[in-house]
Amino acid sequence: MTLSTTLSVTVRAAAKVNLHLGVGRPRPDGFHPLATVYQTLSLHDDVTASTGPAWSVSLVCEDDIDRDAFPAGEDNIVVRAGRLLAAHHDVGLAAGLTVRKSIPIAGGLAGGSADAAATLVALDRLWDLQTSDADLLALAARLGSDVPFALVGGTALGGGRGELVTPAPDEGTRWWVVVPARTGLSTPAVYRHFDELCPDAPEEVTVPDDLVAALGDPDNRVLAAVLRNDLQPVAIDLRPELGELIEAGERAGALRGIVSGSGPTCLFLCSDRGSADRLRTTLLDAGHPRVLVALGPVSGTHVVEYS
Ligand code: C5P
Repeated sequence: MTLSTTLSVTVRAAAKVNLHLGVGRPRPDGFHPLATVYQTLSLHDDVTASTGPAWSVSLVCEDDIDRDAFPAGEDNIVVRAGRLLAAHHDVGLAAGLTVRKSIPIAGGLAGGSADAAATLVALDRLWDLQTSDADLLALAARLGSDVPFALVGGTALGGGRGELVTPAPDEGTRWWVVVPARTGLSTPAVYRHFDELCPDAPEEVTVPDDLVAALGDPDNRVLAAVLRNDLQPVAIDLRPELGELIEAGERAGALRGIVSGSGPTCLFLCSDRGSADRLRTTLLDAGHPRVLVALGPVSGTHVVEYS
């Protein structure tokens, strides 16, 4: 193998929202069967991988990100991603990883999964490994259920435990208002609570036809009518204020409000950019400290800088 002369590579990966999240009863391996529709958002993290003698990870973010929730060193999914890629190619290399974070941590937006996907691509380019797409997707699936989708991006169906991704055509520009919570929710804890609240969940789940049909319609009202997340009642049971926030957003002009994934971030689908901007202002005025406007779908994990 010849090492390239590249010293650092920066890769962007997007947050996701689930337009549909159907959850079944746990499989023998403990994971829940999912039938989901993912969409990437313009809200993103950037991961910079730099040549270095040892694994290290650092975080660059604004004060509204919960720094304490960012796992240190070897516990961080970006280091696990880097080690997995190096082991796959049997190269004894390490790297410095810097995560420029805008996606809330433990927010149900797959920020950690986005960082893992970005790390795989950044190190593949930094070390000129030329990993095949199939191998990248397989490595991504070992890192987490949402990581393959973070690589692919756009709008896509997710099956299995979420890792089996099939791109889906989406004719619209979807305008979202994103309201992160001050503190995250643990994904395993939300799934455990789902099992308590829904002991009769079906063994198999499917994405409804009307959701797939709505993707073919650029009118966001059509999509808004069919959004659904089986984890939403579970997240609201754990955090009742999320239900109040969704009602307030819908009263203030959103087409629909939903909890993203396992929560606690709430997203509001709006008819167009103007109405998203107005809803953002209303929610900021109501005292929510961080309210963002994002659009989807955007592209999957991609390089933004070589040096
Ligand atoms: O795959 P990932 O690491 O993102 O999953 C985190 C946790 O979320 C799992 O350990 C499991 O508790 C829960 N999970 C689940 N079923 C899924 C995906 C995640 O129970 N399909």
